[in-house]
Amino acid sequence: MSLNKAFTIFGGTGDLTFRKLMPAQYNMTAANAEEAQSRIIIIGRRDYTTEQYCELVRDWVKKFARLPYEEKTFEVFAKRISYFKMDISDLNEYARLSEYYTAENIDDHVFYLAVAPKFFGVIASGLKAVKEASLGKVILEKPFGEDLESAKELNKQLETFFPAENIYRIDHYLGKEMVRNIQTIRFTNPIFANLWNSQYIESVQISAFEDLGIGTRGGYYDTSGALKDMVQNHLFQILSIVAMEWPEQFSTTAMHDAQLRVLRALRPVEDVRDSLVLGQYKGYRQEKSVPTDSTTETYAALRLFIDNERWWNTPFYIRTGKKLRCREMQIAIVFRQTFISAPRNILIIKIQPNEGVHLQFNVKTPGDTDEITQAKMDFSQSSSISSRINTPEAYERLITACIKGERSWFSQWDQIETSWDFVEHLKDLYRWDKLPVFTYEQGSDGPAEADNLLKRFGDEWVF
Ligand code: BG6
Repeated sequence: MSLNKAFTIFGGTGDLTFRKLMPAQYNMTAANAEEAQSRIIIIGRRDYTTEQYCELVRDWVKKFARLPYEEKTFEVFAKRISYFKMDISDLNEYARLSEYYTAENIDDHVFYLAVAPKFFGVIASGLKAVKEASLGKVILEKPFGEDLESAKELNKQLETFFPAENIYRIDHYLGKEMVRNIQTIRFTNPIFANLWNSQYIESVQISAFEDLGIGTRGGYYDTSGALKDMVQNHLFQILSIVAMEWPEQFSTTAMHDAQLRVLRALRPVEDVRDSLVLGQYKGYRQEKSVPTDSTTETYAALRLFIDNERWWNTPFYIRTGKKLRCREMQIAIVFRQTFISAPRNILIIKIQPNEGVHLQFNVKTPGDTDEITQAKMDFSQSSSISSRINTPEAYERLITACIKGERSWFSQWDQIETSWDFVEHLKDLYRWDKLPVFTYEQGSDGPAEADNLLKRFGDEWVF
């Protein structure tokens, strides 16, 4: 263990830390990763000793770590952890934290802000005041602000405390195995690469279904809604990877620029009725911390266009929602028909829970007939236990990438700003037109109006 390095988590007793960050760090320890050669300093308000905290973590690791729980490994992992009690909103407390780092000879940092954005500023200025900020990187969780204005303000504030190149904005979808696979599938296979445009692709459909509701996050979720919680960040990241031009080089800047050009080319919406449907699941208003008259959307379906030569005539359909019939996320590329009577070729990239690729194409029906049958070929990447055990989870990859300084795995400020702007404007149009937020049954596919959004234009959802 490099004793001078520390991975400090602000919000050390929160859900994210227990469910994702600590299991990820455990996996990294178990895999003997170089990036696990650091101390883990947990900052929390509660009165725990390090030993008590480690006992809590043990249970979460057992439940959520990718790699099997082993007593010996856990002991090694636990030796990395120290609990430091402090009130993060009290600027005076940071001197004490700094003294602690000095006493422990720690001078190389990654700070993970697993807290609400309202604390980002105070933590950053606290760390800057005691000069620790200049010794490390900072990882932020979304939401980056509550709207475009507050996101801008937050960004400005952060950049006064940390150099821009040391700020890592996490979008955990970018760490998902099949999201990383999109470029390989697309660019390295001529059968897809050469057809990846409006001439051959009729529509692109990105669906992110969740079967769970909002759980105990009502307070946050009701101020956010599906558009800001899922579309503006995760789904726009995916859209920009699917649609981007071949980056001239695989450098971080070239990748980010290619993605940003897609977001900037999103066609401004003229008639919002043709572009957006919002829904809310029945029973949402009875969820904890949700006002009984809330109109926050738990479902959104969008029909968008990208104004460039490659995509001018291909709609991008996006939909996501909570309390739907299943948990499934996939990207469907629907190719145009060549013969009117033949079914369309469809390529499906399955992101989760199963990871893989599915291809539908046409063959002759066997026997004395010229009829056409659809052949369905499946490649399942996640079916074997060994592949699951060997594939790092999103947070594990992203923590590792940050420590290595690989920025292409993180969202850039200009991407966030562009997508905030687009989504906010879209939502305003919806409101100004006084369009309803349609209710839908729990366990369904969302409101029927989302199906009509496609039907009106002769399309239908593939999934
Ligand atoms: C988070 C959203 O960013 O992503 C949650 O805030 C959502 O509302 C979650 O449930 C989905 O992530 P995953 O990895 O479970 O698809």
